[in-house]
Amino acid sequence: MITRKSKREIEQMQAAGDVLVACHKAIAGMIKPGVTTMEINNFVEEFLAERGATPEQKGYNGYPYAICASINDEICHGFPREEQLKDGDIVTIDMVVNLNGGLADSAWTYAVGEVDGVGKRLMEVTKSALYKGIEQAQVGKRIGDIGHAIQTYAEAEGFSVVRDFTGHGIGPTIHEDPHIPHFGLPNKGLRLKEGMVITIEPMINEGSWESQMDENNWTARTIDKGRSAQYEHTIVITKNGPLLTTDQDKE
Ligand code: MF3
Ligand code: CO
Repeated sequence: MITRKSKREIEQMQAAGDVLVACHKAIAGMIKPGVTTMEINNFVEEFLAERGATPEQKGYNGYPYAICASINDEICHGFPREEQLKDGDIVTIDMVVNLNGGLADSAWTYAVGEVDGVGKRLMEVTKSALYKGIEQAQVGKRIGDIGHAIQTYAEAEGFSVVRDFTGHGIGPTIHEDPHIPHFGLPNKGLRLKEGMVITIEPMINEGSWESQMDENNWTARTIDKGRSAQYEHTIVITKNGPLLTTDQDKE
């Protein structure tokens, strides 16, 4: 079901977003060669608990951890683990924060030490692709406009767009209708309305867009070992344009 949120619900989602943003900023300071994604997971558990928030992903459809941590060729839903990050890795940390029932969902790709030129470019293009999609998140625009903006930009830059995972409506649960593909045709699909809250979360690959599932039945990775980056925001559709509850650049 597609819901439109009340002012009060949006305020709760923004409060969750504020906690999530602070958490991502703290993680940014932890990322370096030698740190493990399990350490980051445990840090997030504590960070949220201290603020009266909970990691909504933990237990969601049986997912075992507070965060997803996807390294290099892992596209999404990587498991945190006791393996040290290495100089040159890229790692995507994705989490959903629940604060008093309000949810916020944001993923961010971090460079570990010095990443090579293509890896840096992949990260930049993926982040810009997210913002190209966000520009389309306007009352009266259609879902296809979002995917089209992302796909045409990312492909023109020589990268590919993952098809098997999409953005989504969010609240009261993590994944609500509608699906928000990161590819598509302009002026097609559902029309966006005021009060809808969605995520846009392009996963962009340096090689083929195709994914395969690990034996853990969660982690998707590229079929050609190429790297994948991802940036995600939670976005409220308002008559004044897209409102990011997970914006890291606010004062
Ligand atoms: N933030 C993730 C997404 O948007 C949530 C994944 S659910 C989990 O798809 F259970 F895998 F964590
Ligand atoms: Co999401």
